Amino acid sequence: MCVHIVGDTTAKLAAVGSLLAEKLPIASELLGKVCLRGRDVHAVVVAADLRDIDNISALKNLGKDLSRVSKRIFLIEQRSRLSIVQAYALGATSVLTQPVNAATLLAELLEPGTVDSKPPAGSNSEQAAAAGAACFAAMFAAILRGAPIDIEAAKLVGRHITENITEHGLSQWLAAVRRHHEGTFQHCLLVTGVAVDFGLCLGLAPADVERLCSAAIFHDIGKAKIPLAILDKPGHLETDERILIETHPVVGYEFLKDQNGVSPEILDAVRHHHEYLDGSGYPDGLGAASIADLVRMLTVSDIFAALIEFRSYKPIMPREQAYDILRGMHGKLEAPLVKAFRDVALTR
Ligand SMILES: [Fe+2]
Ligand SMILES: [Fe+2]
Repeated sequence: MCVHIVGDTTAKLAAVGSLLAEKLPIASELLGKVCLRGRDVHAVVVAADLRDIDNISALKNLGKDLSRVSKRIFLIEQRSRLSIVQAYALGATSVLTQPVNAATLLAELLEPGTVDSKPPAGSNSEQAAAAGAACFAAMFAAILRGAPIDIEAAKLVGRHITENITEHGLSQWLAAVRRHHEGTFQHCLLVTGVAVDFGLCLGLAPADVERLCSAAIFHDIGKAKIPLAILDKPGHLETDERILIETHPVVGYEFLKDQNGVSPEILDAVRHHHEYLDGSGYPDGLGAASIADLVRMLTVSDIFAALIEFRSYKPIMPREQAYDILRGMHGKLEAPLVKAFRDVALTR
């Protein structure tokens, strides 16, 4: 396995090289002088300031040659949405925030699927997850710019995720997503996978699974407007922070209702996925009679996915414990649905 390190300064090349040199064969080149064509490169690690216009255009010039490398890890200086979005837009398959230590980078490089040139068993999940993360990055960037989002591209990503989960199961999807992605994109990928598997488990018609999948893909799109410092804050939220976070269903709904190709059922799910049957949810305090089946399924999937997501500051909650929390939400979630969710939560 040869890892190609690409950096915008010699200091960054040296720093990343020192993390890997004892473990893997490496090659290092300054961005702008990189040539990947015709070379046997298994993975690329990019350490460059993605706010720099010269770096962006140099990475764009690498274009197709970069996309032929199966593993493309971008190291970003600061965990800002702009940097994450930019990294995925430039072809990253995963993004790590500096400072990155040797163990983290090696784990990312050496996990199954990157060492061999032949496609490994898990590669489909990882490719689908990377495509999904890129899709979320593009949608979030569009919202921040006030530009339309590519609804059909998002639905296509949903179909790939559905195919992947149908073929490989939910567990592989959860592992691939948690291994490579973090924050809101991780959450959206997990919710989508869980919701799809829930739909398949319930035996829904393909059109209904697709609708549930789309609702999951779009459900938290309003979070694009919320600062990462609040979204990713560990522990207690101040009242004003919580109020801001709770705007995301309406923000997402308001944005999507002006887009072509988003059905009323999906808009309803985006706006109401934090409503509870007992009326204690938000933003509209709906009661059971006003909460549609699609929304109920999405809410169960959303809560479960939020509980089991990977956070750097805490261990992953076991699926059994997360399911127990769902079962304890008496009156808020539909009990037969929670019961039906058991297989998704524990065995699939
Ligand atoms: Fe949400
Ligand atoms: Fe969510």
